[in-house]
Amino acid sequence: MKNLDSYAVFGSPINHSQSPRIHKLFAEQTNQSLDYFAQEVTAEDFVTAATDFFARGGKGLNCTVPLKELAFQFADKTTPRAESAKAVNTLVKQKDGLILGDNTDGIGLANDLIFNHGIELNGKRVLILGAGGATRGILYPLLDQQPDCLVVANRTIEKALTLAYEFNHSFESSGYDDLENQQFDIIINATSASLTNELPPLPENLLAENGICYDLFYSDQPTAFVHWGNLQNARKSLDGLGMLVEQASEAFALWRGVRPDTKAVIDLLGGMRS
Ligand code: ATR
Repeated sequence: MKNLDSYAVFGSPINHSQSPRIHKLFAEQTNQSLDYFAQEVTAEDFVTAATDFFARGGKGLNCTVPLKELAFQFADKTTPRAESAKAVNTLVKQKDGLILGDNTDGIGLANDLIFNHGIELNGKRVLILGAGGATRGILYPLLDQQPDCLVVANRTIEKALTLAYEFNHSFESSGYDDLENQQFDIIINATSASLTNELPPLPENLLAENGICYDLFYSDQPTAFVHWGNLQNARKSLDGLGMLVEQASEAFALWRGVRPDTKAVIDLLGGMRS
C-alpha cells in the first residue's frame, strides 16, 4: 500500500486538540488520503521533533501553544502575515524542500466573524483584550476590515504600548482602568485568562447595546468570557471553535490545494458538545 502523506499538530498540552478530528473530516469531505496525528512536543523538544518529522517525509505541521514563535524561527521562509504576527501555526514542506511558515489564525478569525456569523467590523468600535502572541496574530486581518476604532487593552500597559509602536500606531493601546466610560460594539478576548477560567477586570457597561463578544479560546463548557458576554446581554457571545475550524481549513488548503466546507465541520463539532 502506498504511504499516506503525513501531517501533524505539535503542542503542549495536546491531548484535547480537536485538530486531528477536524483534518480527518476535511480529508473525508474532499476525498483526500492522508494521515494527521497529534504529538505532545514541548518548546525544548520542538526543533528536534520538527526536524525529525520533515526528515521522515512529513508534508505539513500545525504548531500550537507554546510553539508558534519557535515555528516562526524554524521556517526557512515566511509569509507576510506570519511576519507581522512573528508567529507561525502552519508549516508546509515545499517541492524545493524548503519549509514555508504561515499564520492562518487571523484570517480564521475574520472568516468566522464575517462569513459564519455575518458580523461586520467595518465602522465598528472594536476592543481586543490582551497584548500577547494571540493578539499579534489577529491584528492585521482585523485592521483590514477598517473598524471605526481598534483598542488593545492589557493588564501590563507597557506591552500594549510596545505592540502599538510595532504596528505603527494603527490602533490605540490602553490599560483596563482607562476603559471606564467607554463602549465597544465588538469585544475580542485574546488573553490566556480563559485557560484558567479567569476574566480580565472589565468595567460595567463596556459592551454597547447589541454588541458581540468573541473568545479566541474554546472549550466544552462556556468560557468565563463567553459567560460574561451573556451576562452583558451580548447579541452573540461566541467562543473560538469556528476560528479553530477556519484556521485549519486555511492550512488544509495550503497543504492540499482544496478548500473544505467549514460549516459542516463546525456544525458537527458544535453539536457534539451541546
Ligand atoms: P498568547 O500567545 O496566548 O497571547 P502570551 O503572549 O503569554 O500568550 O500573552 C498572554 C496575554 O494574556 C497577555 O496579554 C496577558 O496579560 P499581561 O501581558 O499583563 O500578562 C494576558 N493575561 C493572562 N492572564 C490574564 C488575566 N488573568 N487577566 C488579564 N490578562 C491576562
